[in-house]
Amino acid sequence: MQIDPSKNTYADNYKLLTNLVVPRPIAWVTSLSKAGVINLAPFSFFNAVGTEPLYVIISVGLRDDGSPKDTENNIKDRGEFVVNLVTEELFEAMNISAADFPSDQSELKAAGLHDAPSVQIKVPRVAEAQASLECKLFSLQALGSNTLIIGEVVMFHVADSLLGPNRHINNFSPIGRLGSPSVYCRTTDRFDISRVSYAQWKKEND
Ligand SMILES: Cc1cc2nc3c(=O)[nH]c(=O)nc-3n(C[C@H](O)[C@H](O)[C@H](O)COP(=O)(O)O)c2cc1C
Repeated sequence: MQIDPSKNTYADNYKLLTNLVVPRPIAWVTSLSKAGVINLAPFSFFNAVGTEPLYVIISVGLRDDGSPKDTENNIKDRGEFVVNLVTEELFEAMNISAADFPSDQSELKAAGLHDAPSVQIKVPRVAEAQASLECKLFSLQALGSNTLIIGEVVMFHVADSLLGPNRHINNFSPIGRLGSPSVYCRTTDRFDISRVSYAQWKKEND
């Protein structure tokens, strides 16, 4: 079946895109309001997109009433944010932090979490997260009703238990978003298959 998005409703298009482009990683973003409230919210329009320098993107939509979300306002104001990664034990707290709390209330506190200081930026990270990326705002661009935010990663925080020799990450199993609004997956079922070079492939297929 072919589905032309220009003939679809917004809701149907959103459903199709977010249930087909899966699994998506989840950026659990801490940001700081002008008044100093630590804001926390998850974003699954998220990925790593650059390595030298290191860049990550998140894409933030509007609230139901058409106003910008706190995360976007805070990043615009401060030019900084932290992407914390969500492992299974933090799922419930992540889910609470997605609720539409008023701007003067901290989702971090409401979810029973603690903040830990960052090194390069003023915005704190989630102390309970196994890994966090301190980010400085690189650019901000309107994408229709979304805002694409590109951040440069200026510091990694990784739990010692995850780090093997040569910066190898072991036993890190963040959850993924499989479908909207509320389907997730574990990343514990892994396989590791070496890549093949063209020369190898040719030798085996000649
Ligand atoms: C797993 C998950 C992923 C989400 N991904 C996004 C996203 O990519 N973009 C977005 O605008 N909202 C996303 N949301 C909704 C926001 O988290 C929600 O609107 C939140 O209240 C925004 O908070 P803020 O106003 O404090 O920034 C997601 C929610 C969940 C539960």
